[in-house]
Amino acid sequence: MERTFLMVKPDGVERGLIGEVISRIEKKGFRMVAIKMLRISEELAGEHYAEHAGKPFFDEMLSFITSGPVVAMVWEGPGVIQSIREIMGATDPARAEPGTIRRDMGTSISRNVVHGSDSPAAAEREINLFFKDSELLD
Ligand code: CMP
Repeated sequence: MERTFLMVKPDGVERGLIGEVISRIEKKGFRMVAIKMLRISEELAGEHYAEHAGKPFFDEMLSFITSGPVVAMVWEGPGVIQSIREIMGATDPARAEPGTIRRDMGTSISRNVVHGSDSPAAAEREINLFFKDSELLD
């Protein structure tokens, strides 16, 4: 069964949007198989966003993602990677379609409420970065 990694970023947690994000995905029929709240370390942030190292927004992104608690989750279901990407909308809230999380709730390209895996390889890598196998329910 396909799985993906989803995170409510510090802006979403601070603004009380955890329930709204979860609710949209539950309503779509997907199943949550793991969840935890944590404050991301500099080291974990660097690993998670390794592909963006060297980009102009990298330092700001790291300081933002480590600035407060996040909620990390694993979701499961057929086509869940692409479906959650559609529910989130485009990275930049200004370009995201109406009805998506980022358009409805995001305030800027960095404060865009959620992060979700963009491919099966990314999903596997990100799930393993944040969760042990024993933390994922069957
Ligand atoms: P995310 O899906 O978490 O993956 C990388 C993040 O970089 C992205 O969401 C944005 O929040 C953040 N970011 C900040 N500035 C930019 C930018 N100029 N272009 C793309 N991503 C950016």
